[in-house]
Amino acid sequence: MTVYTELEGQTALVTGASRGIGFAIAEELTRSGVTVVMTARKDDALQQAVNSLPDGKAIGIAGKADDPEHRRQVLDTIAERFGRLDILINNAGINPVYGKLVDLEMAAVEKVLSVNLLSTLAWTQAAYHHEGLKFRENRGRVVNLSSVAGATPSPNLGLYGVSKAAVNHLTTTLGAELGPEVRVNAIAPAVVKTQFSEALYAEGEDKVAQQYPLKRLGTPEDIAHTAVFLVSDSSSWITSQVITLDGGLLSNGGRA
Ligand SMILES: NC(=O)c1ccc[n+]([C@@H]2O[C@H](COP(=O)([O-])OP(=O)(O)OC[C@H]3O[C@@H](n4cnc5c(N)ncnc54)[C@H](OP(=O)(O)O)[C@@H]3O)[C@@H](O)[C@H]2O)c1
Repeated sequence: MTVYTELEGQTALVTGASRGIGFAIAEELTRSGVTVVMTARKDDALQQAVNSLPDGKAIGIAGKADDPEHRRQVLDTIAERFGRLDILINNAGINPVYGKLVDLEMAAVEKVLSVNLLSTLAWTQAAYHHEGLKFRENRGRVVNLSSVAGATPSPNLGLYGVSKAAVNHLTTTLGAELGPEVRVNAIAPAVVKTQFSEALYAEGEDKVAQQYPLKRLGTPEDIAHTAVFLVSDSSSWITSQVITLDGGLLSNGGRA
């Protein structure tokens, strides 16, 4: 665990943070003294997650990442309570459909793109332009959650892969547009052990892990360590990058 003392007193927003990768990032940020605002759809689980973090270091506001009214409420609350936003982690992501692109219901396609792609841009736009957050003055940092599914086509994960490939391009483009004030990077993991990915290792974790040169699946903490590095001063010359965290899977010819 690395403590980045320069982050002490800063404010972060982590979307989709009641469990899994988002929660691990929120928890790791609090270790460096960051106050974290967390979102998720289900309020009970969100408040439980908030209560498991150090007193006064986290608040939770329930809502859907792709709901403009929720975004407004969250950012206005951060402005009123903390007067600043330094770090935006666009983590909320869904993958409710499996199957070939050609067979998918267009309503499902729209929903996946709305949550995974459009809200990533919408949160970034809203944070960047909100006068009460001083995101630019604070040299704001954005980290988007992508996936190795955005790098290579994966059977039955085509739509999810399309959404994450677009997140990669969004990241590199925003990084180029928003420097020098704001840095924008993404993390593209292979399978990380969370509720989201359970089906991908249902046949046995050890068996799936054999495809990985490092012979294990990822943990939420693996992702959190890199996310906090990417918002720290130690990465101050890194922007527009998609960092693959995959235990070597892609280099071994593997795919999501
Ligand atoms: N786990 C993996 O193997 C893996 C690999 C590559 C990339 N990723 C990416 O990493 C991110 C996090 O995944 P995870 O594995 O941690 O997922 P997870 O365990 O399913 O957790 C997802 C979190 O997001 C919240 N959430 C889901 N939909 C939301 C929405 N529409 N609006 C707001 N919050 C929402 C969930 O709470 P509620 O259900 O209460 O909303 C929960 O807190 C995603 O973007 C995913 O695509 C994951």
